Amino acid sequence: MTSKKIGDVVLDVRNISLRFGGVKALTDISFDVREHEVRAIIGPNGAGKSSMLNCINGVYQPQDGSISFRGQTFKHMNSRQVAEMGIARTFQNLALFKGMSVIDNIMTGRNLRIKSNLFMQAIRNPFGIGGAQKEEEAHREFVEHIIDFLEIQAHRKTPVGQLPYGLQKRVDLGRALAMEPKVLLLDEPMAGMNLEEKQDMSRFILDVNDEFGTTIVLIEHDMGVVMDISDRVVVLDYGKKIGDGTPDEVRNNEEVISAYLGTSH
Ligand SMILES: Nc1ncnc2c1ncn2[C@@H]1O[C@H](COP(=O)(O)OP(=O)(O)O)[C@@H](O)[C@H]1O
Ligand SMILES: [Mg+2]
Repeated sequence: MTSKKIGDVVLDVRNISLRFGGVKALTDISFDVREHEVRAIIGPNGAGKSSMLNCINGVYQPQDGSISFRGQTFKHMNSRQVAEMGIARTFQNLALFKGMSVIDNIMTGRNLRIKSNLFMQAIRNPFGIGGAQKEEEAHREFVEHIIDFLEIQAHRKTPVGQLPYGLQKRVDLGRALAMEPKVLLLDEPMAGMNLEEKQDMSRFILDVNDEFGTTIVLIEHDMGVVMDISDRVVVLDYGKKIGDGTPDEVRNNEEVISAYLGTSH
């Protein structure tokens, strides 16, 4: 973990507050994410972790604060813009098409690129149908690479709904990777998994980080996993930030310990 090169701040979250009626989901949250980092967000249920990712990817619009991506500051992120800028995410509850094959599900992650490329092609060469087919083939090839990378070749044509849960989560990761993201937001990628599935998923996350240089923002409940694979950790509790630092710093933070033991409430 220590040998890799962490770069400049790529994502800068400043003073974000988000309310739903009377519920304060997030209160004045600030943290940054550096290029090539594995940055974890942890905290008890209802702490605001998913809400934080939803602010970053434009699903929720915070009442206060701002988010900068590669130096460009936004009051509200816009979902499509976020995807186009290179931020992809997976969901806490799987958002896959259960009746569709593995390959077709991962291909849906490619749509954003297919559309923009076809559009560019239509401008350059309005009669270039052959070109569009080549483009489609290149995308299929890219998807096959992802399938190899995630070691799910045997399931390429299987409807996703027929796969064990751990593999479905891997397909969901593949769908996000198909966007070739700079930053990958993962919402509890290991929830509901057994130990072996968790170890596999941890390895894939580290491989993505390592081989593609993708910056990872990861929500995870399993403290062991978080401590193993993260460079830095943000801790939320009741919508407030109560800790931020290396796994060791966070592990020894009194406020974090009591939040996790439930003695602070
Ligand atoms: N769409 C929503 N409408 C109303 N309340 C919400 C919504 N999303 C989240 N919340 C509330 O915000 C708080 C934080 O939720 P969430 O971000 O899902 O926490 P976590 O992911 O840490 O478990 C909770 O009290 C939750 O009920
Ligand atoms: Mg959540």
